[in-house]
Amino acid sequence: MSQTVRFDPAGPLRGSYTPPPDKSISHRAALFGAMADEPVTVVNYLDSEDTRSTLDAVMTLGAAVAEEPDGRLLIRGVGLHAPLEATGGILNVGNAGTLLRLLPGWLAGQPGGVWTLDGDDSIRRRPVDRIAEPLERMGASVEVREGRFPPFTVRGADLTGIQYDLPVPSAQVKSCVLIAGMFASGSTTVTEGSTSRDHTERMMRRARVPFERDGLRITVAQVDELELDHVVVPGDPSSAAFIVAAAVLVGGSRVVVQDVGLNWTRTGFYRIAERMGAVIVGELEEPGAEADEEPVGELDVASGPLEGTVVEPEEVPLAIDELTLVALLGAHADGETVVRGAEELRLKESDRIEGVVEGLRGMGADIEATPDGFVVRGDGSPLRGGTIDAQGDHRMAMLGAVAGLASSEGVEVVGMDAAAVSYPGFERDLRALL
Ligand code: S3P
Repeated sequence: MSQTVRFDPAGPLRGSYTPPPDKSISHRAALFGAMADEPVTVVNYLDSEDTRSTLDAVMTLGAAVAEEPDGRLLIRGVGLHAPLEATGGILNVGNAGTLLRLLPGWLAGQPGGVWTLDGDDSIRRRPVDRIAEPLERMGASVEVREGRFPPFTVRGADLTGIQYDLPVPSAQVKSCVLIAGMFASGSTTVTEGSTSRDHTERMMRRARVPFERDGLRITVAQVDELELDHVVVPGDPSSAAFIVAAAVLVGGSRVVVQDVGLNWTRTGFYRIAERMGAVIVGELEEPGAEADEEPVGELDVASGPLEGTVVEPEEVPLAIDELTLVALLGAHADGETVVRGAEELRLKESDRIEGVVEGLRGMGADIEATPDGFVVRGDGSPLRGGTIDAQGDHRMAMLGAVAGLASSEGVEVVGMDAAAVSYPGFERDLRALL
């Protein structure tokens, strides 16, 4: 059921705010917990539609998940090599692209097992050839619809390590091949064109998987068991970015974001926003840092006059889920904002290049699409407002809400309920700061 919600121009956002738990890290915690022999405790697991799909999938495969009275999850995994359940069956990934791309890395390493991953209409438009290709080269058999899309069937095998150069900058594909690498004889090396989020690598190091990084090259070796006993999930910097953008855009705002993940491979948006003139004070992790742990901290955010900027392709994977917010900031900034090298945005939960260009243009923005991004020009005055259809995409729904608060006449968001995919309490949290 599609819900339409209006967001009117608002006074300043003020106060302190704790974002919901990180979606990417929650997915990985559930998968690694399920692949471990010993129980794994997950503190602050995200309760959202996407991350519930991951818990459902691992339970279908034989892991047990229990919620403790204090809200922690206790995952009793099946280990890396025990036979998994539900072979021959369908695993419903819902709307979760991360589950769709990571889980097959595990399934591919299970000789004798066969599973089909499928999901909602949006998931059926998400390409899986990008994981099918390396998994086949490692020895698994796969079937995909029209050579490219789910339903996606993976038949496990004794895998062999490969050298793989990622054809697209994608943390999901990188993670899939690294996970499969834990089952493969020899070693598996993945080379990225530019750095993408590294949560899988950090979790592998903590689980004592034999693992090496040399610049953009990551090598993993076969392993018998994971040594992981607990995972603490920080606040999601991508979810927080929507509140931060609202605070940056609405004059007089000041918001302190608490317990937010500051991993440098996730905070590209914050660096771009600062460059545009936003006031963001906090200890963002230094770009290039390699660590086992996920850094967490506080950010003190205030609005400021914005200027246009150019976002280069190597920055794109570090801000991939927040680039529509860069467009919104650009529409309110003085001068031209250009995003290049972001063609992957066309393959997200919706085509986010078309969505943001049509959506912001309808609110009065001077914005045009390019094949790999967009160009937006502003003169420092707010957008008029209008209507935006989220098209079932959680991040487009949240973008519309923020645009409404910053506009002069308000924005109606069609399909606001989509926000629950990653951030069920978004509207409540946003309004609580007003
Ligand atoms: C994710 C990686 C990114 C991102 C997605 C989550 C992950 O996707 O857009 O929201 O958890 O690894 P791609 O790997 O397709 O860029």
